[in-house]
Parts: sequence; structure tokens; C-alpha cells
Amino acid sequence: MKKNLEEIKSTAIQQISAATTLDELHEIEVEILGRKQGSLSLLLRKVPSLPVEERPEMGKQGNIVKKEITQLISNKQKEFENAEESEEFFDFSAPSPKPKIGKSHPISQFIREVEDVFGRLGFDIADGPEIDDEHHNFNALNIPEHHPAREMQDTFWVKNLKKHVLRTQTSNVQIHFMEKNEPPFRIIAPGKVFRKDSDATHSPMFHQVEGLMIDKNISLANLKFVLLSALRELISPDLELRFRLSYFPFTEPSLEVDASCPICGTNGKKECRVCKGTSWLEIGGAGMVHPNVLKNVGLDSSQWNGFAFGFGIERQVMIRHQINDLRQFYENDLRFLEQF
Ligand code: PHE
Repeated sequence: MKKNLEEIKSTAIQQISAATTLDELHEIEVEILGRKQGSLSLLLRKVPSLPVEERPEMGKQGNIVKKEITQLISNKQKEFENAEESEEFFDFSAPSPKPKIGKSHPISQFIREVEDVFGRLGFDIADGPEIDDEHHNFNALNIPEHHPAREMQDTFWVKNLKKHVLRTQTSNVQIHFMEKNEPPFRIIAPGKVFRKDSDATHSPMFHQVEGLMIDKNISLANLKFVLLSALRELISPDLELRFRLSYFPFTEPSLEVDASCPICGTNGKKECRVCKGTSWLEIGGAGMVHPNVLKNVGLDSSQWNGFAFGFGIERQVMIRHQINDLRQFYENDLRFLEQF
């Protein structure tokens, strides 16, 4: 029996060192150590039938050999595993890893929706320069040089370009568009605007959408219908509007436009995070285009008239998603952006 044990051990050593794959190694393991048919297991099972005085020694030897073989197998297994790791296997037939697909910024998403909704109301999309001259940003909009209304908008003047500003409002597009196009028309002009201002609700760069409709016999009723239809689609089907008299140099009369709270409607609840119980949220300015503005672009105000409006975009997106700090839009933190 001792002879058998040695035989088993020496073949095991041979077989294990000759194994070339993990599968092969596993087969060898079963052949030797397998509980039912393994050669060593079978041998050890005979120990109890040996003469009493031989049993302890044989049992001991058997277990030593079993340990040795188990160790050899586990070493060999590690060898295989290490080889597998170091050998950089590239499977050309494997499907390629999925690319990370980006998506639009929440502000861009909202602008696309605005374009869509106003598009269905017959509005074209117009565009204008972000660096513009004083004439288009101020003068032609009926804001002369020393007019206090200029102070309402903390302006960035461009250093090496005479009388040029980073536009403070998208209203400059009104002038550019009317200089080049004959009425009747309706346009919206979404885009970036710039003012020296920065805190949780102000950023030096933000977005507005301008609206302009010029035709014959336009009234505030038309303005109200257009705004109500668009905002009900964009924000909430039960939205109500409130107009408050205001002042802008380029509209007369001028209005401040408030929308009812998308959470509590016109019955503001004190604990509401969005309206804080006031029911109304200011969303922008509007009014009937001032005759001087029409005159400045060569239009006859006895023939043509119309309305204009200008809304801040960030604020609406903040209301929609209940975002409390506007600066998050521009920090490029993916943990924030990926939520939209
Ligand atoms: N341009 C104005 C602003 O930035 C908004 C406005 C646009 C008001 C058009 C009336 C008409 O505050």
C-alpha cells in the first residue's frame, strides 16, 4: 500500500506539471482527489481494513500526500491565472464598448421646446450678434445715451471696439430683424445676454427669448393669446397670466408679465418652495412696440404696429425643475447635468 501511495504521488507530480490548461488541471484533480473515484481517495478508504498497527502510519502518510498534491494543484492554478492576466488578450470579434452618449444642456432643451411651441403659433426663429453696437442694443430701442434706463442694465462695454457692448438684452434682434425684413412677421429670438451681476439668482451671462410680432391692428389681446397659449404648453395647462403696468423705453404701454405658480396655481400656499405663497412668478417684460422704435427702422407707425416680449429662460427652467441656485447651470458638474 505504501508503494501505491508513492506511485500515486509521483504520477500526480508529473501530471500536474505537464498540465497545459485549467480544464486539464481540473480533470487531474478529479482523477486523484475525486471523492468517489479519485485514486488517492480510493486508497485512503482502504486504511481501516489494514492491520491495526499499520493504520496510524498509513493514515498519516496518506494525508501528507493529499496535502502535497492539493498544494501542487493550487500552485499550478495560480500560475495559469497569472498568465491569463499578463497576456493581454484582445478579442477583435467582441462587440465594441458602448460610447457615452451626451445630451443637451437643460437650458438648450428648454430653448428647443420654446422654438417648437412658438413655431406652431407661426413664429420664425431669428438671430442676432452677442457683441453689438450701441445703436442696436440701446439707441434704436429708444434708449438714448444719457437715458436712465441704461443704468437698469449693468453693461459690459467692449474695450477695443468703440461703442460696442456684450448685448444686455435680446431686444437688439428686434432692430436687426426689422432693418432687413418687411412686415407682417412674427419672430422669436432666443439667446445669450450679459450683465454685470452675479449671485444665486443672477449670472453675468444668462438667456432670454425675445418675441416680436408686427402686423396691422395688433393689440394686447393678441399678445395675451400668444403668451397664454405658449406658456400653457410649456409650463402647465392651467397656467394663468397677470399683466402689471411697467416701463420699458421700447414699448408703450409696457407690462410686467407674471405667471401663476405651477405648483399651487392662483391659490398660493405659504409653504410652496416656488412661489412662497405669492401665487405669481414674474417671468418677463412685454408691451406694444413704441412708435419711435418703428420709426428708427423705417416703418410707418400709422400703418404697422405690434407687440414685443422678453423672457428670462433660466428662471423658467429653475421653476420647472425646482432648482435653487442658477450658477449650477454653468458649473459643468455632470452629477447635476445628468439629471435632465
Ligand atoms: N428687454 C427687456 C429686458 O431685458 C424685456 C422686454 C423685451 C420688455 C421686449 C419689453 C419688450 O428687461
